Amino acid sequence: MRPQRPGQPCVEVPHQHVPLHGGMLVTAPDALGHALVVPCATGTRHPRNGHHGRRDCAGDTPGRLEMSSTYFFQEAWPEELARLTSLEAALDPGTKALLEPLSRNAKTCLEAGAGAGSIAGWLGEHIPPPGRVLACDIQTKFLERMSNAQLEIRRHDIAADALPADSFDLVHVRWTLFWLAPASRAAAVAHLLSSLRPEGRLLVEEPDFAPLLHSPMPAPLDQVITEHARLISERSPVDVTYGRRVYADLTAAGLRDTRTAARTHVIEPGRTETGGAWLRLALNRIRPDMVRAGMVTEAAFDVALRQFDEPNGLVFPLTMAVWGQK
Ligand SMILES: C[S@@+](CC[C@H](N)C(=O)[O-])C[C@H]1O[C@@H](n2cnc3c(N)ncnc32)[C@H](O)[C@@H]1O
Repeated sequence: MRPQRPGQPCVEVPHQHVPLHGGMLVTAPDALGHALVVPCATGTRHPRNGHHGRRDCAGDTPGRLEMSSTYFFQEAWPEELARLTSLEAALDPGTKALLEPLSRNAKTCLEAGAGAGSIAGWLGEHIPPPGRVLACDIQTKFLERMSNAQLEIRRHDIAADALPADSFDLVHVRWTLFWLAPASRAAAVAHLLSSLRPEGRLLVEEPDFAPLLHSPMPAPLDQVITEHARLISERSPVDVTYGRRVYADLTAAGLRDTRTAARTHVIEPGRTETGGAWLRLALNRIRPDMVRAGMVTEAAFDVALRQFDEPNGLVFPLTMAVWGQK
């Protein structure tokens, strides 16, 4: 928890209070060609990290970030890159189809909660020079592998800290807001909207796990999948049904001329582009916790994983896309 001075206003976020005060971080001109004045929750000045163009704006120790979310999956977990890459394989074609027209005249783009970076990398190649793409995430290890002259990587918590105001022609966030508690999510949406230039476009894509949770499944696979969703919901502020509420939240926050689209598909064994590895790895990550909590036995989990590899007709979570203008 950050130290809080008496009288400082707070926003309530899961498991901690983040003090809001007048502290500002002023940086040298960045990759987007302008100096940033970023309200910084600690009020201290942070030196720019001298590598990978990465910056931290959340703590006194470079590289340390206090998170407004208790994000369940950590980049240090050896399978995390494979899990994120599988998610990208399942989602990227649909996202690129939506971004293609939205990015047509964009010169500055923000990819928030950029994960393993496939969409940030695609935007970096897609936007003609001298366009700029800022990719931010609370975990930047995988983003730092990328090298693209148009791409800037920044460690940033979209719920806790504001983004440069009126800066981007296009902002995209995918499968990230659903990890945040409602107050943090509202703050993140406000930060994303305020970072858009007037007339700028926002595309938000968030999941609703209903199709997965209602898929045809044999026992004990049904129990493993249902309990894994329940466990991550107990251990973090995640809302696995958020996709069905994203339209209402964005219109209430002021997004206008909105459009929506939803997509899903069957997870087919052996077809990597259907995202089976994303779910299988997530189940494996949570396995020790589930067994320890007495939710399922090791033997039943083994059976469930064998069942998972059969063509069951498991349906990938629905991705609800909502886009519009500031
Ligand atoms: C499920 S992954 C999705 C990654 C990527 N958007 C994609 O769709 O491929 C969620 C990402 O959100 C990031 N994240 C979670 N909370 C965040 C926050 N408060 N601010 C910025 N990023 C956050 C995580 O580190 C992770 O990379």
